[in-house]
Amino acid sequence: MRKKIVAGNWKMNVDLNESIDLIESIKKIYDPSDDVEVCIAPSFPFLKESSKLCQGEKIKVLAQNVNDNLKGAFTGEVSIDMLKSINVDGVILGHSERREHFNEDDDLLLRKLKVSLENNIKVYFCIGESFVDREKNNHFEKVKNQLDKTVFKIDSIDPENLVIAYEPIWAIGTGLTASPEQAQEVHKYIRNLLRERYGKKISDKTSIIYGGSVKPNSARDIFEKEDVDGGLIGGASLSPQDFIDIVRSI
Ligand code: PGA
Repeated sequence: MRKKIVAGNWKMNVDLNESIDLIESIKKIYDPSDDVEVCIAPSFPFLKESSKLCQGEKIKVLAQNVNDNLKGAFTGEVSIDMLKSINVDGVILGHSERREHFNEDDDLLLRKLKVSLENNIKVYFCIGESFVDREKNNHFEKVKNQLDKTVFKIDSIDPENLVIAYEPIWAIGTGLTASPEQAQEVHKYIRNLLRERYGKKISDKTSIIYGGSVKPNSARDIFEKEDVDGGLIGGASLSPQDFIDIVRSI
């Protein structure tokens, strides 16, 4: 069976004390016996404290980015080994905000993806179309193109170490969630592409999560869909109760 995953992406929204409060509040209401992989992605300076607070809690701690080099003169950057040295469990790559505001293109993302997988850090890899792509009915082509230029350049993938996040850009932070049917048809399409590239066994085991304005009242209908294996949650992950309600919607 595929892993069900709910990951909270806190983006650049909370400071140290707020991060600690969020984690403590999540811990109070979260039932670790739930069969869901729960992840949080705090900002870099708070990862160490967060991973300490989450130890033994069945809450994974993810970084929101990582550099594509392992070491060296890259002022202001953070490497995989640095993340691993503070027990970070994984990294979000390819988020549309990184693609758009920091010019992360498919070539760079492929390098980040490769170096992360080669160094055994789990990747939550985001793809998704813009509003214009969706209006022109180009969404399938767009996600295929993004995968062709990144994930599919890798000869073999391990579903334990790679999660795909389908995040239509028009739904991120806008309050416009994709309908469950819209999410399912793209997730199914992605799964078929994974099957063509890596075979049925891998495609059946790879979790594909949905992101884009998921809220407690919309999560259940989306998560119910066959090829939707959970969510990447932005805004709603800043409220512990909303986040845990979303976890319980799986
Ligand atoms: P949102 O963000 O839930 O606020 O739309 C999702 C994301 O960017 O991962």
